[in-house]
Amino acid sequence: MNHIVAPSILAADFGNLQRDVEMINQSEADWIHVDIMDGVFVPNISFGFPVFEAIKKHSKKPLDTHLMIQHPENYVDGFIKAGSSNITVHYEATVHLHRLVHHIKDQGITAGVALNPHTPISFLEDIIQDVDLVLIMSVNPGFGGQKFIEHTYAKIQELKNLILRKKSKALIEIDGGVNQENAPKLLASGADVLVAGNFVFSSDHPAATIKDLKKLDVARTFQV
Ligand code: DX5
Ligand code: ZN
Repeated sequence: MNHIVAPSILAADFGNLQRDVEMINQSEADWIHVDIMDGVFVPNISFGFPVFEAIKKHSKKPLDTHLMIQHPENYVDGFIKAGSSNITVHYEATVHLHRLVHHIKDQGITAGVALNPHTPISFLEDIIQDVDLVLIMSVNPGFGGQKFIEHTYAKIQELKNLILRKKSKALIEIDGGVNQENAPKLLASGADVLVAGNFVFSSDHPAATIKDLKKLDVARTFQV
């Protein structure tokens, strides 16, 4: 499978949101990554339903919703109704993860689980066969533009082994500090989806930067 590139709209110019969504529409991006922060689970607030709906209205790409909120079970139905193609909830933010993952999938979209940098891959042992995607945070969640955590490569390899061993179909998504330098090693380690915020939107030619991330050609054959 070719890897997926998902620009994070958090780094867009919110005064020109329609323009930036249309730039992504015209680009080779596969998804739009949408970060929802509640000021409780993470020390920052991003935006809620009105802005999400504005993104949806203009987007021609699937919306990959990353809920950095406590008790995501209270809000997933709203984000499904608002047009998410995937919803990822944090392992650390909900008690009944299995129930929530199946609730999301029962509505006909895919479900992901996200891990903070300190949360071990081994905690996924009993849920990996149920999820469509695992998001590994490669920064502490809450802000764009942070420095990539190097330990991420080892976590990707461990997760890839777990996925192969359990015959799971889950995709591995990496979120935080992704750029042209670390992307080849992330893909070679087993990543399937690259989220990039600041690297894309602070570039002089965001669509060309997306294209550069998309055309990385890295050998990706994995065995247990
Ligand atoms: C961080 C968010 C990320 C963020 C990535 O908490 O989950 O999706 O937008 O931004 P960069 O690529 O700038 O680190
Ligand atoms: Zn995110």
